[in-house]
Amino acid sequence: MMESRGVYSGKVLVVGATGRTGQWVVKRLLHYGIAVRVLSRQAEKALSLFGESVEIVTGRIQSREDIARAVKGCDAVLSALGSSSYSGESSPTEVDRDGVKRLVDEAAKSGVKHFGLVSSLGVTRWYHPLNLFSAVLLKKWDAEEHLRKVFAPPALSCTIVRPGGLKDGEPLLHKLHVESGDRLWSGWINRSDVAELLVLSLWVEKAKNKTFEVVNDCEEVQSTLEHCYDLLPE
Ligand SMILES: NC(=O)c1ccc[n+]([C@@H]2O[C@H](COP(=O)([O-])OP(=O)(O)OC[C@H]3O[C@@H](n4cnc5c(N)ncnc54)[C@H](OP(=O)(O)O)[C@@H]3O)[C@@H](O)[C@H]2O)c1
Repeated sequence: MMESRGVYSGKVLVVGATGRTGQWVVKRLLHYGIAVRVLSRQAEKALSLFGESVEIVTGRIQSREDIARAVKGCDAVLSALGSSSYSGESSPTEVDRDGVKRLVDEAAKSGVKHFGLVSSLGVTRWYHPLNLFSAVLLKKWDAEEHLRKVFAPPALSCTIVRPGGLKDGEPLLHKLHVESGDRLWSGWINRSDVAELLVLSLWVEKAKNKTFEVVNDCEEVQSTLEHCYDLLPE
């Protein structure tokens, strides 16, 4: 159900929207009454998930032209893209590194002001076991660095959320633990809370230009996750 809360008046492009975190990003944007466009290689899947409540642009993350069409007229991009195979079009190289970098470049070129990205705990550690999967964390780190560089100018901003292991479930059911410096080795978090943090980054000033790790602390119903951003160093 759409609620108009007036917290953010821009239009947001969600990429990876048909994925498990991406679907929550769309749900939470709609919860706040925010206009949503999605870029998906599977328009039918997007239509069956979101119906008429979002604008759907069919396209591939490998195509600059498709991305340019999708970002045109959007004020922000939220990416929940993620690789799902060792090689081919859904590999870490194609999706987590080159796909995200291409998206960042096209977004900046088209005038997007804020970019939110789902990354992962452990991206700064080349020796992490997850790098046995086509060096996935190193690819994500490369994309993070690119995003921080391209969105560094003062008129632009980015927020990079590095979650622990992802679980399904409703948002706002856990108190969260946030840190910076990539020092955490374990922990879980609901995809819906990752989505909520990304959505809040659109208008919470303290979220701008922050890269942080986040996992569950304990079960405790939350009225908002905004305070998580107060806990991060400037
Ligand atoms: N799993 C974990 O425990 C964990 C922990 C930390 C961080 N992360 C990261 O968190 C993010 C979200 O994870 P998730 O589990 O929600 O992911 P997911 O359900 O696998 O969704 C991934 C999304 O990426 C899209 N995608 C994949 N390959 C693509 C391609 N070649 N072109 C266009 N779109 C493509 C998928 O589109 P389709 O729907 O069309 O396939 C889907 O929308 C990922 O970056 C993941 O690496 C995961």
